[in-house]
Amino acid sequence: EKGGYDYFMLKEIAEQPRAVADTLLGRIAADGRLVLDEMRITDQELREVDKIIIVACGTSYHAGLIAKYALEHWAGLPCEVELASEFRYRDPILSRSTLVIAISQSGETMDALMAVRHAREQHAKLLGICNVNGSTLPRECDGVLYTHAGPEVAVASTKAFLTQLVAVYLIALYIAQVRGTKWGDEVFAMIQLLAQMPEKVEKVLETMEPVRELARSLANERSVLFLGRHVGFPVALEGALKLKELAYMHAEGFAAGELKHGPIALIEEGLPVIVVVPPRARAVLHDKIVSNIQEIRARGARTIVIAEEGDETVEPFADTLIRVPAVPTLFQPLVTTVPLQVFACELATAKGHDVDQPRNLAKSVTVE
Ligand code: M6R
Repeated sequence: EKGGYDYFMLKEIAEQPRAVADTLLGRIAADGRLVLDEMRITDQELREVDKIIIVACGTSYHAGLIAKYALEHWAGLPCEVELASEFRYRDPILSRSTLVIAISQSGETMDALMAVRHAREQHAKLLGICNVNGSTLPRECDGVLYTHAGPEVAVASTKAFLTQLVAVYLIALYIAQVRGTKWGDEVFAMIQLLAQMPEKVEKVLETMEPVRELARSLANERSVLFLGRHVGFPVALEGALKLKELAYMHAEGFAAGELKHGPIALIEEGLPVIVVVPPRARAVLHDKIVSNIQEIRARGARTIVIAEEGDETVEPFADTLIRVPAVPTLFQPLVTTVPLQVFACELATAKGHDVDQPRNLAKSVTVE
């Protein structure tokens, strides 16, 4: 059932182009508009929303952090992202016009379910993003948008994460379509580009051998740092989480803009730092991160740079360069996360760990 792979995780990483395509399937109409009637939340209800709060745990929380950028940009709505385990014990300010989006692969994560109940008490609208049909989360929510990743067996989430990203892009673009924000130009173009993402993910997977080699060469390191800006920041957090779970290694993700506020003190000779570089089209973001790479390299870091094809500015400062296809900034996590999954999986395997069943972890955390 591992389809010829040694681990489910390897199979699930490889399935990502298909999972992304399946999550888009039937949701883009022939005229290029999105159709999400299945969501069970009406267009009228979406027009009344004035604030969005996302609740989730772990990797699903990272998808939520990325969703914030997309929802603010395309849907033009204020959006907060909360760890479900924190949200449920706070006194959040919600109303009938608040849309709470709970993201959970399993649909059984206790903290996510409790966060949803907490939001219901304050009459918020509840939308689940979930991968498991018939799980608890969709029953607890007013509406649901399923990801179609197929069963995810490995404890570390990979294909579910990519499909969660697709789901949040669909929701952000759909709200923009319904509310008329920017509809007609950017949103329409983005829907077309989203449809091309399965091929882009496929292209990334075809070029992963150097990443596997790199991972094997770093198997004896004690610590790896990850840096990103904008949507690259949650990608950095996700890369670090994968490495912690699978390789039991110290790994931390930082917002590159925070470097000078503390983390740069950690940089020492030879420390591997993986940097996610935004597309050149976002010149301000891009140039800032190129300066960050120079700063850490000047202090001895071993720079591992993930940058889009054709970006030559990073070449002089990258000890290792990992190329990903050029895609719009907000979609970039779909292509930049994949090398980080492969990296963590290969490094852990090189250390002799079972990547499907990391120690101390369960696939769904149904206790508090
Ligand atoms: O099923 P969920 O999406 O609610 O699970 C949330 C987290 O437990 C999960 O993403 C966890 O962080 C994974 N092991 C990450 O790889």
